[in-house]
Amino acid sequence: MAYDNILVETNGRVGVITLNRPKALNALNAALIGELGHALDAFEADAGIGAIVLTGSERAFAAGADIKEMQPLLFPATYTEDFITSWERLSRCRKPVIAAVAGYALGGGCEIAMMCDIILAADNARFGQPEIQLGIMPGAGGSQRLTRAIGKAKAMEMCLTGRTLTAEEADRYGLVSRVVPLAELRDEAMKVAGTIADLSLASVMMTKESVNRAFETTLAEGIRFERRLFQALFATADQKEGMSAFTEKRGPSFTNA
Ligand code: HXC
Repeated sequence: MAYDNILVETNGRVGVITLNRPKALNALNAALIGELGHALDAFEADAGIGAIVLTGSERAFAAGADIKEMQPLLFPATYTEDFITSWERLSRCRKPVIAAVAGYALGGGCEIAMMCDIILAADNARFGQPEIQLGIMPGAGGSQRLTRAIGKAKAMEMCLTGRTLTAEEADRYGLVSRVVPLAELRDEAMKVAGTIADLSLASVMMTKESVNRAFETTLAEGIRFERRLFQALFATADQKEGMSAFTEKRGPSFTNA
């Protein structure tokens, strides 16, 4: 499929999606979100893809939902059509997604970064939930995921005032896994994604599922869930291969079997 608002490429077992509406700082309109969902469907269905990188431009990961598209909306349509449902496709992706964030990640841009599994930030990245300045509020999980990521005090100040975080603050607060120089962002993201993509897909997907379960359940239930998945991995050929490779002092060669 030809896309107008994103660029899609593959590099070995890594799928790369680049948000590409430069004139609007990658503002997330319905067409872009639809294309993002389509690209994720394709990568998820492709056995040759083990991890996905989601990125934007050097100036903007995404400056939020498209304000011009939302401006005329009225409540009945926002409720009945619930355009935000299509945004949730990213959070339902079962393969790992690494957000490589440079420049603005504001509003819906910050929210889609937080739907990813790992956020790598360039040193020029800026994270914020400025919706309050538009007379609205975060609507794609921002008030929930941000609060879980950095705690109530910091999330509340950001959501209530629209204050943005520098990359260094986002790192210190635990919103991102680390900060890298802008020029190295893409290479670093590809390196992380490549490392993950070469591992056993079942163990990678179960690990993602298990870490995410920590946000949704009690500690006891989460630990039980983890235990069952851990045990299930002993039914894979990759477990035998991984452990044989260790004892034979060689690198593993996983077959996703
Ligand atoms: C539509 C946007 C946009 C957006 C930028 N643009 N952000 N268009 N929706 N969210 C457009 C501008 O209108 C402008 O187009 C072009 O991109 C360049 O932006 P400038 O403002 O000229 O650039 P600059 O002065 O460098 O300022 C950058 C900025 C600012 C600080 C990021 O653009 C900004 O504040 N943007 C809005 C950020 C925001 O409020 N995001 C939250 C949106 S609500 P023209 O045609 O004029 O050149 C949201 C809700 C999510 O995300 C809820 C879930 C669905």
